[in-house]
Amino acid sequence: MPRRAPFIVIEGLDRSGKTTQTSLLHSHLESLKISTKLLKFPDRTTAIGKMIDSYLRSQSELDDHAIHLLFSANRWELAPTITSLLTSGTLVLCDRYAFSGIAFSAAKPSLRATFPSTENDALLWCRAPDISLPAPDLTIFLDITPDQAKLRGGYGEERYEKEEMQKRVREVFHRLGEEMSSPVDGVNDSKDKRWVVVDAGREREVVARELWQLVEPLIEGVDEEVGRLWE
Ligand code: TMP
Repeated sequence: MPRRAPFIVIEGLDRSGKTTQTSLLHSHLESLKISTKLLKFPDRTTAIGKMIDSYLRSQSELDDHAIHLLFSANRWELAPTITSLLTSGTLVLCDRYAFSGIAFSAAKPSLRATFPSTENDALLWCRAPDISLPAPDLTIFLDITPDQAKLRGGYGEERYEKEEMQKRVREVFHRLGEEMSSPVDGVNDSKDKRWVVVDAGREREVVARELWQLVEPLIEGVDEEVGRLWE
């Protein structure tokens, strides 16, 4: 199997500096002449993305299950592109992915209420439509506590940018992270760093340096085929 490019996802809460860090990393990769494609989810430019955009701006209402499926469909629209970019040697850097999809939906009380028996059922339901999407080789979760986020100023105007929601989203992200980084078949392979939590409450340059340390080992390429999420 010829080498292919790596798939790197940056996840994080609002005010974590995710967009800034993703764009710093993108510029750095480009300055090194590494072929890179920057993607962002939701991709608000597609027909599905436009429905999502209108929902996030509170210009339209949708059932919580329906919007969850639209976010996932928006990733599936781009899945073949992601795979072909990777196999043709272009690194894919992605601002948010399926983990945001699960964390934001599973944090909604209304969605949890659909599955009164256990919270885990809600998580499983949220995960189901994203099963088998191209799997990132590395997911970096930019973590920030609610107090640190508050110090950085108020949240924005969009639907989920509220303190209580962000707290619940953070809890789900941490749960997903534990699941992602737990040893496979009991073997704790230190190279298997698929999910890494980075403290994003620090100086911008310090965080950027840490991100580069995580990404640099992957830029030579990956020998395995593109994996599939949760398979
Ligand atoms: P953005 O601020 O990074 O553009 O993301 C828009 C919002 O959409 C953000 O609050 C996170 C949320 N979101 C979901 O609820 N589900 C998803 O699948 C994704 C990708 C984002």
